[in-house]
Amino acid sequence: MVSFILCLLPALLATTNAQAAILTCDTCFGLTETCNFAPGTCQVNKATGGCLSVAEDIKLGGTQNTNFYKECVSNYKSDIEVPISFTVGNGNYVRINTTLCNTDNCNAAVPGMPTGSTTANGLQCPTCFALNFAPCNSSVTPCTGDETYCMDFTGFLQKGPSSSPFQAKGCTSASDQVIKPGINLTSTPYTFSFFWGQSVPAEKIPTPPPPTTTTPATTTNAPPTTATPANTTNAPPTTTHSGASPALGKFSFALYLPGLTGLLLVKLLS
Ligand SMILES: *[C@@H]1O[C@H](CO)[C@@H](O)[C@H](O)[C@H]1NC(C)=O
Ligand SMILES: *[C@@H]1O[C@H](CO)[C@@H](O)[C@H](O)[C@H]1NC(C)=O
Ligand SMILES: *[C@@H]1O[C@H](CO)[C@@H](O)[C@H](O)[C@H]1NC(C)=O
Ligand SMILES: *[C@@H]1O[C@H](CO)[C@@H](O)[C@H](O)[C@H]1NC(C)=O
Repeated sequence: MVSFILCLLPALLATTNAQAAILTCDTCFGLTETCNFAPGTCQVNKATGGCLSVAEDIKLGGTQNTNFYKECVSNYKSDIEVPISFTVGNGNYVRINTTLCNTDNCNAAVPGMPTGSTTANGLQCPTCFALNFAPCNSSVTPCTGDETYCMDFTGFLQKGPSSSPFQAKGCTSASDQVIKPGINLTSTPYTFSFFWGQSVPAEKIPTPPPPTTTTPATTTNAPPTTATPANTTNAPPTTTHSGASPALGKFSFALYLPGLTGLLLVKLLS
């Protein structure tokens, strides 16, 4: 009898411990940040679970989904806990702001809805989005805001019971480097299962070679002969008029312009 109780004791203690290690989180779903549908709480094992709070704005194939929700997640350690944003061209994008935490009711507040940015950041990426093995015809598109990486991923897109292979290329934020093959990104309308691919730092948009007609204003009082630019090595100084490139022609015209204006003024004033 005593040994029986001794045997039970660890089990009883374990039960008590397990009960202590319960995490309580807020739940709700909503189209606005009041998140007013199905408000309540959920419980999850504190050792492995967490509280999630999400604001998401997703537009794929012309359908926009804007949602807020709070829930328990059972795999706190493996879930994505950084804001995710990627832009795949033709007005399609995924923006998910996330709070993931594991103290009681720590997900009471919903995060801000990610708005994206329209400010070009000087970088560019190939962008495309295609389902069901359609060709992902990519066009190079300027990136905006903090989307300073280029992503190129294939995987499966699940919507309800149906699953379609997808390919996505586009500009993405540095935080999206958590997206790796084998990762699932869950949103209300879709689950992305990333199967292959990577994100790499985006390349600068190439700048065209600077034009040589930059300083006509500073040379107004210098005679045209001494103001000939030193960088016109392919045209000998004596043949500036005949053998000049279009840019050089414009340059010498610009040099003469103040002089001509001056002559006109003199003519008008006299
Ligand atoms: C995510 O939500 C937090 C908290 O509301 C906010 O400070 C942050 O700006 C949001 N991030 C984005 C990318 O919108
Ligand atoms: C992609 O390119 C292929 C071949 O150029 C073309 O047949 C197809 O219609 C294009 N698809 C889209 C969605 O633009
Ligand atoms: C990701 O989702 C797929 C399909 O639903 C599932 O088979 C897989 O186990 C998930 N992987 C993880 C790490 O949750
Ligand atoms: C030609 O222009 C470049 C910058 O465009 C400058 O660095 C270089 O010194 C110039 N060469 C001469 C001979 O002035």
